[in-house]
Amino acid sequence: MTIKTPQLRFESLVVHGGLETGTCGPTTVPIIQSSAFAYGTASALEDVFRGRKTGPVYTRLGNPTTEALEKRLAFLEGGVAAVATASGMAAIATAVMSIIRSGDEILASASLFGGTFSLFRDTLSNYGITTRFVDPTDVAAIRGGVTDRTRLIFVETIGNPRIDVPDISAIAAAAQEAGIPLVVDATISTPCLARGCDLGADIIVHSTSKYINGTGSTIGGVIIDMGRFGWRNDKFPHFAPFVKRYREFAFTARVRKLIHKDFGACAAPMNSFLLTEGLETLALRMEKHCANAIALAHFLNGHPKVTWVRYPGLAESPFHEVAARQFGGRFSGLLAFGLADREGAFRFIDHLRMAKNAANIGDAKTLVIHPASTIYCDYETEDKALLGVAEELVRVSVGIEHKDDIIEDFAQALGEA
Ligand SMILES: Cc1ncc(COP(=O)(O)O)c(C=O)c1O
Repeated sequence: MTIKTPQLRFESLVVHGGLETGTCGPTTVPIIQSSAFAYGTASALEDVFRGRKTGPVYTRLGNPTTEALEKRLAFLEGGVAAVATASGMAAIATAVMSIIRSGDEILASASLFGGTFSLFRDTLSNYGITTRFVDPTDVAAIRGGVTDRTRLIFVETIGNPRIDVPDISAIAAAAQEAGIPLVVDATISTPCLARGCDLGADIIVHSTSKYINGTGSTIGGVIIDMGRFGWRNDKFPHFAPFVKRYREFAFTARVRKLIHKDFGACAAPMNSFLLTEGLETLALRMEKHCANAIALAHFLNGHPKVTWVRYPGLAESPFHEVAARQFGGRFSGLLAFGLADREGAFRFIDHLRMAKNAANIGDAKTLVIHPASTIYCDYETEDKALLGVAEELVRVSVGIEHKDDIIEDFAQALGEA
């Protein structure tokens, strides 16, 4: 029996999507822990290699456990296909390198996760790719930043750690006018707050290590193709053979046949299993992350030692209106706040009793970090300023514990800050 998953609502899709079990089949996705897959005849294996038939051949190229995760995530985002990767960074690098070529430009948000910023500015620049960084909340700046060499626009749905919220549909319109794809990192909003197909993105990437996994147990990433970008376009002659053969699957085919295959950053079957298990509770967890975060943001906003709070759920946030419209009145679980200075931030973190001091987000547990001295410790002062990493900033990934326990923990630690 095959479940017709695309018809289901979100809360049902996170549980059933991609799970195609026959009579007496398992109710969880089986872990197919095998490097290679044997075929009865030489011509049967040739058929799969030549694309005449589908089937797994080698886990770097594809694996049934990983395929179940890919299908579920593609359904959830309203996409046509997905490729799971070893990490979120692998997803971003693979997606972007599948589009650009030496001499091209990326137009990227200046409010990016540090690893993505470093990939674009420090790594890809060694291979003839230039990135222009612009304020993602300024659509005029985005339009003005497009040149005849720009081949993609890259933004995060909620900037980490600036916690700003770009208007994705307005940016999608600018990308469409320029004839280039919009690649969106939706790690922090997740498809629970907004589906990629509704946002207007052409390609969605996630670090599945975060909310999708939800337990902090597994590193992973995914690239989801909305299947609607017109690759038959003078700017993308390298897509021509893929468009001809794979039509709306052209981008995914190019990902699978080149960068994903050649760089080899594939998902391990065990990790795909753990991510699929985690994903099943995404809808429930996001409700709690969002409810706890707004409660904590209000508490911090009224605290005398807190100098500022960044959370789009607060009515006074400059991003409240766009976030409310884009994410259906929910604002995810990530916030940042300022204390008097770096020493105050350190004293606060040192006195927390329940929340953990760790370089991660999207865990069921509340996590805090002082980004300037950790994730961004090697960055120049001007780069930290560009990315919104102030010395007094504490980033909080609000967990799903009881909200009063989180607030009581923060209250006692702030007392010592
Ligand atoms: C928004 C965002 N994108 C991508 C990444 C990279 O993901 P990963 O650590 O799975 O490579 C992170 C990691 O923190 C992130 O916060």
